[in-house]
Amino acid sequence: MEKIHTDKPASLKTFNISDTDSGISYESTEDETEVNTPTYSPSLMDPIENVMKPENLLEKFVEAGGRRYLNDNTVKCFLPADQEEVKRAHDRNCVDKTIWGGNYSAPVSENLSLGASVLDVGCGAGAWIMNMASDYSASVFVGIDVVPVFPEDHPPNSIFLKCNIMDGLPFPDNTFDFVRQGFVVISINWQAWKEKVVKELIRITKPGGYIEIMDVYREPINPGIISRKIDTSILEHLRKAGINPTSGTDVIEKFNEFKDKVIVAPIEERTYCFGKKAGGIGEATLKCVVEAYRGMKIILTHIMGITEEECEQMLIDFEKECNEVMPCKTRYRAIIQKR
Ligand SMILES: C[S@@+](CC[C@H](N)C(=O)[O-])C[C@H]1O[C@@H](n2cnc3c(N)ncnc32)[C@H](O)[C@@H]1O
Repeated sequence: MEKIHTDKPASLKTFNISDTDSGISYESTEDETEVNTPTYSPSLMDPIENVMKPENLLEKFVEAGGRRYLNDNTVKCFLPADQEEVKRAHDRNCVDKTIWGGNYSAPVSENLSLGASVLDVGCGAGAWIMNMASDYSASVFVGIDVVPVFPEDHPPNSIFLKCNIMDGLPFPDNTFDFVRQGFVVISINWQAWKEKVVKELIRITKPGGYIEIMDVYREPINPGIISRKIDTSILEHLRKAGINPTSGTDVIEKFNEFKDKVIVAPIEERTYCFGKKAGGIGEATLKCVVEAYRGMKIILTHIMGITEEECEQMLIDFEKECNEVMPCKTRYRAIIQKR
């Protein structure tokens, strides 16, 4: 453990809100905090780091292949941070809502209607918050992410803070009634999950409050040849970088080690399929997947040893294959209640 000075994110320095209905209240403090210095494998982000040439660098972002990525080599994000990705995230949130029949599974509707404090950890483009904040105007929604792509035009009962989960969560104990996280599991290394993140999620949740983690099992069901090739390359790349792609359920197991503090409900699962044969939702899902792969083109060309043109052709063929074969994946939601 190294003692370092963490600079509070600029947004947090000016963050001083108080909401009596939700009981949410924060004030910035400058302090010396003990944090684990994040460790990453350099190989994971080589493709992105390779394009970080001076001519490509913008103030906070780096431009590559017509897409914009966060210019911060301590943050390991595969996906771009630009308007195309914001749109894709919103489309994907609609797909999730349809697959699950709602934005969340935890038994929090009554609380949300009455006025609750809610945190979305790794909120990205804020699609989930946009939906939820409009549905539940009495509640307060806080989104945190290391990439600032949260919309400027957001509902008044929502706020964004730029911060890195690896530095700990900048909130007092027992702050939130509902803490959720969607598709962030593999962005955080397993060591950090084990040593810090699980404890932090529990710490900031109020007694009786809920934590919900949604993610996807990486292994495809009934994949075609191209689909398997892409998945295998990505999984291999993650493993080489020390990320366990199946860490989702391991993370839930980790919560089980704090049985004195939390109750972990059985994991809920939904299997969904890609492509025309799966109807409208299958087409929408496939579009989101193809766009995600397009956003990861630099990574894919690097790990698969192909050119950009070959990558584009592969994605066109992948789309055709999915429409014929109809591969599926399974998403899960884990619900954890703090005692
Ligand atoms: C796949 S995206 C999911 C975004 C959003 N939850 C959604 O469902 O659309 C993963 C998000 O985790 C964020 N993230 C990754 N590592 C992070 C970290 N150390 N601290 C804060 N956010 C992080 C990324 O910036 C990205 O927005």
